[in-house]
Amino acid sequence: MAVTLVIGSQWGDEGKGKIIDYLSLQSDYVVRFHGGNNAGHTVINNLGKFPMHLVPSGIFNKKSKAVIANGVILDLEVLILEIANLEKAGIKIKDRFYISPRCHIIMPYHKILDRLYEDAKGKKKTGTTGRGIGPTYADKVSYNGIRISDLMNKDSFLEKLDTQLRIKNKILAALGAKKVSKKKVIKNFMKFREKIKPYVSNAYPLLHKAVKDKKNILLEGAHGVFLDNDWGTYPFVTASTVLSGGVTQGVGIPPASIKNIIGVVKAYTTRVGEGPFPTELFNSESEKLRKNGNEFGTTTGRARRCGWLDAELIKFASQINGYTGLAVTKLDVLDGFTKIKICVSYTFNGKRVNYFDGDAGFLRRVKPVYKTLPGWKKSTKGIKKYSELPIEARNYLKEIENLVGIKIKYVSTGGERTEIIKI
Ligand code: GDP
Ligand code: IMO
Ligand code: MG
Repeated sequence: MAVTLVIGSQWGDEGKGKIIDYLSLQSDYVVRFHGGNNAGHTVINNLGKFPMHLVPSGIFNKKSKAVIANGVILDLEVLILEIANLEKAGIKIKDRFYISPRCHIIMPYHKILDRLYEDAKGKKKTGTTGRGIGPTYADKVSYNGIRISDLMNKDSFLEKLDTQLRIKNKILAALGAKKVSKKKVIKNFMKFREKIKPYVSNAYPLLHKAVKDKKNILLEGAHGVFLDNDWGTYPFVTASTVLSGGVTQGVGIPPASIKNIIGVVKAYTTRVGEGPFPTELFNSESEKLRKNGNEFGTTTGRARRCGWLDAELIKFASQINGYTGLAVTKLDVLDGFTKIKICVSYTFNGKRVNYFDGDAGFLRRVKPVYKTLPGWKKSTKGIKKYSELPIEARNYLKEIENLVGIKIKYVSTGGERTEIIKI
């Protein structure tokens, strides 16, 4: 396996958590390298059902070590709760869980600013998860961030907090919001500090040794390609680099050491929040996808918008990331559809166009060109052998392979770890 990277190929919620949990059985290290608790990765295994927001979804393999690398931003309250829930479920994380001191902290004012920016944009809002993600990354790149290493050094934390509150409370007051109390922040963060202290450690040398020793490292991408800050449907995106290129920045592993790049593709498409979505459906088929697929957000509970698979997007995702294989998830959700459509390309004013030709406004106006395939009547739920899939389901998968030009290595047929076909 060596170094394997898992990336969401659509607008998030493709089932990355399920695939990571399955692949982690073979891994020595599982690493989150970007994003924050805007991510919600569902794991269902012999230990229960877990919505993972920050701790890597591979924590359930007792033999592997879990790393939150420097590119991740942390809401410490959420992290501490997640650790407590894992411990309650009997998962021991002591001596095998590392938090990078370089991680930036999501501060209370970041969450307030996230809401204020969204309110100010009104109908043009991004539809964020409200977790303070954009404002925290903005402070990181404008040298106003507070890192875990600052929190570990009380004087540094107090000095930085003082400066930031002087700036942020002026902004909050100007926008009509309540000021953030320094006393309260200090009280809470000194408690957080004690709770996370045992895990704060620089895993960089461990990971480099692991690369050298050809250990299995699993890199857990969050969100999806079309939420990438540069190549997604800006401004309806998230703040981090979602693509394979984000690995060096987010964890410090050289790009050439990544041997496998698995694109996770939901067998149809969903999106939460605002922004263009060419294959979105507004009929009984979208209702059926939402109901059968239980398409409600793991993080916010919002109903996900649903539509047909868009191969134009997957082709782009594969090209820009350099996929070496695909993992198609939620195939079982398509059970019982008499006809299934795949968008094979786009047209704009009658001419063939590509995803990368334009911006979000352009993508709202492209017309999807569909190919219709016959559905299947048999249930695929829980099938573990490719040969047991109905012929129509196999043809659907072959169509995806042909359109994208990449082999499918895994097919997920249910939410549980064991409901998977390895090809
Ligand atoms: P992630 O953010 O990419 O990890 O995906 P989420 O966990 O947010 O959403 C995926 C949802 O689909 C979760 O509820 C999973 O339990 C579920 N899921 C994953 N794979 C499958 C599958 O093959 N079939 C079905 N029916 N559900 C799945
Ligand atoms: P996982 O890892 C689905 C979306 C939000 C919003 C936009 C910006 O579970 O696949 P943000 O809070 O990041 O500033 O919101 O990005 N978004 C996701 N949608 N799954 C996710 O993560 C997402 N992470 C961010 O809905 O449209
Ligand atoms: Mg999710």
